[in-house]
Amino acid sequence: MKIELPREVDYIINELIEHGYEAYAVGGCIRDSILGKEPEDWDITTSAKPSEVKKIFRRTVDTGIQHGTVTVMLDKRGYEVTTYRIDGEYEDNRHPQNVEFTVDLSEDLKRRDFTINAMAYNKQKGLVDIFNGLCDLQEGIIRCVGSAAERFDEDALRILRAIRFSAQLGFEIEGETLKAVTEKAAKLQFISAERIRAELNKLILSPHPDKLIDTYKAGITKVVLPELDAMMETQQNSPHHIYNVGIHTIKALEQVGHQKELWENGTDKQKQNMDNKSQNDGMNFNQKELLILHWAILLHDVEKPGCKVSGPEGDHFYGHAEKGAETARNILRRLKFDNETIDTVYRLVRWHDYRFALTPQGMRRAVNKIGNDIMDLLFELKTADILAQNPEERKEKFENLAQAKLRLKDIRAKNECVNLKMLKINGRDLIDMGFKPGRSMGETLERLLEQVLENPLLNEKQTLLDMARQYKN
Ligand code: CTP
Repeated sequence: MKIELPREVDYIINELIEHGYEAYAVGGCIRDSILGKEPEDWDITTSAKPSEVKKIFRRTVDTGIQHGTVTVMLDKRGYEVTTYRIDGEYEDNRHPQNVEFTVDLSEDLKRRDFTINAMAYNKQKGLVDIFNGLCDLQEGIIRCVGSAAERFDEDALRILRAIRFSAQLGFEIEGETLKAVTEKAAKLQFISAERIRAELNKLILSPHPDKLIDTYKAGITKVVLPELDAMMETQQNSPHHIYNVGIHTIKALEQVGHQKELWENGTDKQKQNMDNKSQNDGMNFNQKELLILHWAILLHDVEKPGCKVSGPEGDHFYGHAEKGAETARNILRRLKFDNETIDTVYRLVRWHDYRFALTPQGMRRAVNKIGNDIMDLLFELKTADILAQNPEERKEKFENLAQAKLRLKDIRAKNECVNLKMLKINGRDLIDMGFKPGRSMGETLERLLEQVLENPLLNEKQTLLDMARQYKN
């Protein structure tokens, strides 16, 4: 097995070897290289102690010296070099109380989570694969190194990582490992929101968001996202639906696959394009927007369980969008998301059920209410939502959406005013005209906007000033 190491990684390994130490690339980068994917980052493991690593390389950063990690800087990029270690007892299911360094590579590999993550490589020795990680990688199996229960006791996050990797790679979880996942799921309560959030993000962005069903069955969501359990347990007796709320939600997540594949397999260039948001009919989103979209899809019906009313002609979920937006906000706060993500998901959930009135005026009003900035995301969310509903009822919903998209395109092409910012006059102009700053001035601007939404030709400075003068009197 030959793995192409980046020049810098090869250089660091060779320097360490020339100074009499052992050194290998290890973990995720080896797994990804064998799979033919470009690794996100390259970790190096060595028999050299941190102080010894620091003597060899000119520029280093003490990233986690007490855990044996030094970052070697080459050309502004950092490479983490960690001393072979045997973790001590884990306190709080998360942090090893103490770390013991060792000169035995196998001791270091033994402490890692899964066999596919426990392989090391350098040019001289080739692949070091004590736990048959290569075989599991080829057969598509997630298996803990040694005792799964022990690995999960050391770090309970691994319980969720097992399913996250199975979702990213499309792998099955081996029987003993899966048994331990279920038995130990409750331990996730001791793991920080930030670490759980990172795993959930990767899971829902993966090509297999359907693995969320496994997190439900294993009792993981009961701890980290109990709202999904309620969704999985809520039937919807309605001509629009063929799945319960939870399965509908997961099916909707599956519909944005084309975007995800591009992201997963994208070259750096493609990723850069996505970061810069290349405009392709509003269908390409950068990574943050993609994440927002996925969370909005995951949570769009989160309050259906709470709003369900069953009548003779089926189930109704009145008010679930408004209430759902509040609940989505609380969930994302609990998971310590940033405010921009929280606010955008809130708005998307709030408007996910909106039926567009297809007149130009109706559409301008809709954009004004919802916000031009989230319209593309909203269209994508609605598309995914419809695709996960009863196919028999799809046609008319898609027609409405297609028309709405065309109208939005038109509004944007003509640069029609859809908010106060785009109005050709502002508060300053009104003050110059003798308005007093305050409520009535704000109301005047709102009244003018109302008129402009109705008739965009009115959005001329002089016309608006004349109209404002009338309101003043
Ligand atoms: N690791 C572990 N237990 C954890 C986290 C990490 O044993 N809870 C080990 C694994 O060997 C893993 C390596 O540390 O391969 C690097 O961890 P990390 O960067 O979190 O994961 P990757 O495997 O690189 O995968 P990804 O980047 O997708 O998270």
